[in-house]
Amino acid sequence: QVSTNAIKFNTSDKKITINKHIYGHFAEHLGRCIYGGFYVGEDNTTIPHTAGVRNDIVEALKKLKIPNLRWPGGCFADTYHWKDGIGPKESRPTIVNTWWGGVTENNSFGTHDFLNMCELLETEPYLAGNVGSGEVQELADWVQYVNHAGTSPMADLRKKNGRENPWKVKFWGVGNEAWGCGGNMTPEYYADVYRKYATFMSDWTNTGGLYRIASGANGGDYNWTEVLMKKIPHSLVDGLALHHYSNVEWNKKGPATGFTDEQYFKTMKSAWHMEELVNKHSAIMDKYDPRKRIALVVDEWGGWYEVEKGTNPGFLYQQNTMRDAMIAGVTLNVFNNHAERVRMANLAQTVNVLQAVILTEGEKMILTPTYHVMEMYKVHQDATLIPLSVESKDFAFGNEKIPAIHASASVNKEGVTHISLVNIDATVKHEIVIDLDKSYKDLSGRILTSKTLTDHNTFQAPDKIKPTAFTGAKLKNNQLKVELPPFSVVVLSLK
Ligand code: AHR
Repeated sequence: QVSTNAIKFNTSDKKITINKHIYGHFAEHLGRCIYGGFYVGEDNTTIPHTAGVRNDIVEALKKLKIPNLRWPGGCFADTYHWKDGIGPKESRPTIVNTWWGGVTENNSFGTHDFLNMCELLETEPYLAGNVGSGEVQELADWVQYVNHAGTSPMADLRKKNGRENPWKVKFWGVGNEAWGCGGNMTPEYYADVYRKYATFMSDWTNTGGLYRIASGANGGDYNWTEVLMKKIPHSLVDGLALHHYSNVEWNKKGPATGFTDEQYFKTMKSAWHMEELVNKHSAIMDKYDPRKRIALVVDEWGGWYEVEKGTNPGFLYQQNTMRDAMIAGVTLNVFNNHAERVRMANLAQTVNVLQAVILTEGEKMILTPTYHVMEMYKVHQDATLIPLSVESKDFAFGNEKIPAIHASASVNKEGVTHISLVNIDATVKHEIVIDLDKSYKDLSGRILTSKTLTDHNTFQAPDKIKPTAFTGAKLKNNQLKVELPPFSVVVLSLK
């Protein structure tokens, strides 16, 4: 079966940049994300590492050009006292990770370890401050510790711990999921708490200020956004967060592999819901901030399923299939198309947790289909958005339907145009006629697809799914005809 769809490039005088920070990642002290994932310890003799951080992971993430990395949570952030994670490792106290598996955390990976790791990764740190169980002074001290160049109690302590120059951390989360694990607060109460914390987070870097991000809504809780936009003085806030996970059903998540057609459809419907969430939260923000100074920061997104059999339920370890590639393709297209308001986002989570881009098993490391989508889409980072109109056939299941085709496009600084296309249809090949903005001479492309939707990379077959050259597009002056196989992601380059 082949079905025809249409995409049109719209001309616009407005130049909107797709902020590279939309392509951000998230690393929580959860399961094997940090310990046994990124960090294998300084004394490890079997896995090549730099100060305990796996070299293969650093190399893989540098290829993705990850722009920022959020740490240490998540729910963990509101239980984390940063002073436990500095100074000689043998004297650091232990704590219990109450949210994630009840395991003992020895604090061997702390502030210096994380910020030095960000330098290795050539990425910007995004620190999530503890508001739920912390103190205003504690967070103010953290800012001073990592950012103050001069003489001050915290800067002196940092120097004593071996780091002379500040790291100059710009991105700061003021609590996480304040409506839930971050303190079960009402939006009115959190808005007041936020005002207090933000006031005492001084700009020690003197380089244009901190970028403070308020804990945002849980999915479609629009009242949360309304209250925060109304009650927080805009001079105190740069971003408002939003969290949305894609599942079959929150209480019946289903397996990460071996899912049914119905489970696939429901997951894709949930992923596509991001479009509505971004539209509706943005509309509320527009009322209070028509110039769009405050960003919508989707700092947790991705697929969330049942854990793999035999693994700790609190570790959230799941495999990653072509379904995850579809979620990533659709979601990143949504963010690109809304780049005027969505200027930062973080996939949950980088290594071994939820929709990971990397999985590890002892010395082995594999790249997931989601990694490959992120790698294919990196061409959009800091490029200029090309607005599109998309007319798509439906992808239906029972009485429900969602668009089959999802797209976004941009032009980079070298003048190369990129179009990212996703066909989420489980069975139908879709033909797309694309009316371009001008005539182009050169066309090339890459595709990510596989034989079945449930296919995934394993430690035995790590390259089962990887991008290959795409030959299904024909260019004639200012028109493109593309044939997209079922469940595929394609990125085209035009010159
Ligand atoms: O990413 C896993 C968890 O999901 C985070 O800790 C929390 O913020 C969210 O509920």
